Amino acid sequence: MKQKATPLFDALQQFSEMSPISFHVPGHKNGGIFPENAQAYFNSVLKLDMTELPGLDDLHAPQGAIAEAQNLAAEYFGADNTYFLVGGSTAGNLAMILATCSTDEKIIVQRNSHKSIFNGLELSGARPVFITPEFDDSEGRYTAPSSTTLKDALKQHPDAKAVVLTYPDYFGKLFPIKESIELAHEYNIPVLVDEAHGVHFSLDKAFPQSALDLGADVVVHSAHKMAPAMTMGSFLHLRSKLVSKAKIMHYLQLIQSSSPSYPLMASLDIARLFLATMHREEINNILESAAMVKEILKAPDFWDILPANDPLKLTLHMNQGVSAKDAASLFEDQKVFPELVTHNQVLFIHGLAPFENTDYLKKAVKRIKEQLKINPNHATIEVSNLFRGSIQELAVSYQTMQQLETKQVPLNESSGYVAAEAIIPYPPGIPLILKGELVTDEHVIIIGHLIEQGVTIQHRDITNEISVFSR
Ligand SMILES: Cc1ncc(COP(=O)(O)O)c(C=O)c1O
Repeated sequence: MKQKATPLFDALQQFSEMSPISFHVPGHKNGGIFPENAQAYFNSVLKLDMTELPGLDDLHAPQGAIAEAQNLAAEYFGADNTYFLVGGSTAGNLAMILATCSTDEKIIVQRNSHKSIFNGLELSGARPVFITPEFDDSEGRYTAPSSTTLKDALKQHPDAKAVVLTYPDYFGKLFPIKESIELAHEYNIPVLVDEAHGVHFSLDKAFPQSALDLGADVVVHSAHKMAPAMTMGSFLHLRSKLVSKAKIMHYLQLIQSSSPSYPLMASLDIARLFLATMHREEINNILESAAMVKEILKAPDFWDILPANDPLKLTLHMNQGVSAKDAASLFEDQKVFPELVTHNQVLFIHGLAPFENTDYLKKAVKRIKEQLKINPNHATIEVSNLFRGSIQELAVSYQTMQQLETKQVPLNESSGYVAAEAIIPYPPGIPLILKGELVTDEHVIIIGHLIEQGVTIQHRDITNEISVFSR
């Protein structure tokens, strides 16, 4: 079976095994020059940390081992072409946007996208048309835009150059994306999907279908999020008559380092092998384990565990009077670290192998249940009216923003101004306010509440001020 091969990892291994003498970069010289106390941790990886040497190919002009490894990934995921990303899904999201639209061209974008999508919009100078996600009461948060909203946006903006969607969301929640893809294709508009959290959808019918299988033109996967790839290792898959392969390749070489990490790329080769060669029985064991961990995490006095489309995502939704932040801190005190805490939820991600520390987890949950307090006065916040209107545009174009003066104003006096910076709780990295968006009273209330709850807001030293455009 071809999928058992790991051409890039093998090429690196063979190169390393001939004990090569390095008169080239990187400066650690195959691990020989490295502080002693760190060597034990780094040594085996540094031996593979090569550069574009004979037989090791070149990410930006692949013809050998990297080309073979990318082709195997394309074959496994069902793409025409797969590209290795060394800058995370962030790099893929930037490239897919830059490759499809340029200055002043319209692009239809799901409003609750990751910040990398908005950064791509700003870099391209495009004119985004935002489609608002629905607020899902059973999930207690915004999920995806309805197909009616997309249909309206397409009708109003048939000249859009692309539609950008996120599938699944951070919590593994899906929506009928096939319908959205087909709607956009009726207008010959390509669909670009940030599937950062769905690399494992390729595994089996036990998992949802990937947007790539459902007809999306470009799909980006953070292999490092759900598969065993090194952090930042990601894939961009292309299968499209509407998106230019040459443009994708152009923007990838423009965005990505000219010295991409070989261990990282080799880990993508290995992650693809890991997924492609997993047996049905192993998948069943993982699913059983996830169900068992879900059972262990149950604490109906404090939280519900939300039903999920992705069985590996376990979301604890706090009951009235229970602070998600307090619950997460208690887990961390027990050295159990969840992925994400919001104002009302704590997300746990199960890995692609059976969980082994069940006794420890049981004891930890027991201690947390003993310690966690229910406080009837714990402030909750209404977030369901954050987005006004189903289709929105920026108050000021990216081009105009470059000409405008900015100033700092106290957050509680910022309503009515146009924001000159995005406000991004992290994780999940979805901006509450976008650069160029009008600040509303709801924004001010919700951000104040998040700051009070101790949620990290990215890129901000002064938490009670916001940069706005002078009027
Ligand atoms: C939905 C989504 N897209 C893209 C990204 C960026 O991915 P990466 O960290 O691989 O750059 C993230 C990161 O959390 C994300 O949640």
